[in-house]
This record gives sequence, structure tokens and C-alpha cells, in this order.
Amino acid sequence: MIFYFSGTGNSLWAARRLSRVLGQAEPVAVADELRRHPSGDCVYELGGGECLILVFPVHSWGPAELMLRFVSRLSIRDYAGQKVYAVCTCGDTCGWTDRILGEALRKRGLSLAGCWSVRMPNNYILMKGFGVDADDVREAKLAAAPAAVDAVAEAIRAHEGGVHLTVGSRPWLKSRIINPLFRRFLAGPDSRTKYHVADTCIGCGLCARVCPTGTVTMKGGRPEWGRGCVQCTACINRCPVRAVEYGGITQTQGRYHHPDL
Ligand SMILES: Cc1cc2nc3c(=O)[nH]c(=O)nc-3n(C[C@H](O)[C@H](O)[C@H](O)COP(=O)(O)O)c2cc1C
Repeated sequence: MIFYFSGTGNSLWAARRLSRVLGQAEPVAVADELRRHPSGDCVYELGGGECLILVFPVHSWGPAELMLRFVSRLSIRDYAGQKVYAVCTCGDTCGWTDRILGEALRKRGLSLAGCWSVRMPNNYILMKGFGVDADDVREAKLAAAPAAVDAVAEAIRAHEGGVHLTVGSRPWLKSRIINPLFRRFLAGPDSRTKYHVADTCIGCGLCARVCPTGTVTMKGGRPEWGRGCVQCTACINRCPVRAVEYGGITQTQGRYHHPDL
């Protein structure tokens, strides 16, 4: 069974490819599952030989917030030791994403059998000094990704495990100091955002439809951002007319979403 979270389509693409190569059912969106179960546990049945695969982007050197919220409520009925694997997509480095996820899984009585990262185009544009990849870098990452995902699928099929992440420098600082601050102040349930919309907005409502948390709502044909943004960047990166901006930062930034979306 494959669960995924994805803001701009990289992780959705990876989850779909894994499901095809492994002959599994369509991946299930954790954002939908959290909406379907507004409180209490999200309970699932797994066959004896079945495994659980979690696919998500790395956000601030840890798992994306919604995947962690999902895991904090995840329950496998009559759990009999089925393997849990994680595949994260990242622009460059993941820090100790595996440790953070492993700790969350342990609280639910589950252990992480294997964790892989796949480099994909960067979608983080909300801070000065960060931005989408140059065209050639983006294309090279997209060209390399299918073989990388297929290799992960083969490892899972062979019941291999272990940690296969691009950790990067100073993981302790990034995953143990910066990541908790990011989760608390920028991606928490009460977080406010600096998103706003320009006059070029055509009122199509895509930003509201793709928002996984219901933070974006349409009022009088224009989007408004409430609280609870998890910084997935779907609204800003998927706007068809580039009308969404974040503070005064993104006017000069590029935009990215996976070409299959
Ligand atoms: C808020 C945020 C934080 C991010 N932090 C990291 C990071 O720490 N390391 C990294 O390599 N990429 C980081 N990225 C880039 C994404 O992990 C990467 O582009 C991912 O493939 C996007 O997946 P998606 O299209 O499924 O949302 C970040 C992106 C966002 C939006």
C-alpha cells in the first residue's frame, strides 16, 4: 500500500511510478485521508506479504509536515511486522529525514525498514537565496529520476532495507534545530503565511483546489489565505498565470511543478 504527499507533483510522480513497477494499487493521498478522518486514528489493513510505502518531499531537512501528521495517526489493524519503507524526493539534501520519520513511526509501534531519497527539481522559492533550478539542472534531474525510482522499487521487491539518503552537511543543525523551528513557526496548524495575489489573477480557483490543508479559499472570485499553511508551495508554483506571490520575495523567482501534473 502506497501513501503519498506531494505539493508540486514530484512525489506523486514517484509514488505512481513505484506503484506501477511494483504492481501495486494507485497511491493514496494522505491529505485526503486526513480530511476523511478529521480526528482519531487512520486505520488500514495490510495483507501478510504486503508492505507500506510512504512517499513525500523533504521539507526543511525533515519529512513534509502532512506526512508526519498522517504517521502520528497511522494504525495497521492486527499489525504482523509488515515492512514500512519511505521514499523521499528532495532538491538536494535530506539531513536526518529518516531519523525524524523513524521516530514518528516508532510512536505508532512501526519501524522503518528502508529509506531512500530521489533528487528531483527544487520547488522551494519562499526565501531569498533559494529558488528553482536552472533549466539544465531541472532537465538533468528529471532525466535521472526514473532510473533512480526503478532502483528503489527493485530494492523493495528484494526486501532490501537500510538508509540510502543524500544527508548533506551539518544534519544535526538542519534536522534537529532548523526543522523543528520550521515545523513550529512556518508549517504548524496556526501558521500564517505571506501569500497574496496580484491583479492578474483570473479567479480559476486552482490554488484553492490544490491546497492540501484548505488554507486557500475563494472569496468573491479571488483566493484568500487563512491559517495552517504547510508551505508545500502548490498554490504559488501551480498558478497558471503566475499571479500568486509570497511577500516581496517571489516576484523575481521562477516557478516549478512536475511536467506530468
Ligand atoms: C518548504 C520546503 C522546504 C524544502 N526543503 C528542502 C530540503 O531541506 N532539502 C531539499 O533537498 N529540498 C527541499 N525542498 C525541495 C523539495 O523537497 C523538492 O523539490 C521535492 O521534490 C518537492 O516535491 P513535491 O513536488 O512532491 O512537492 C523543500 C521544498 C519546500 C517547499
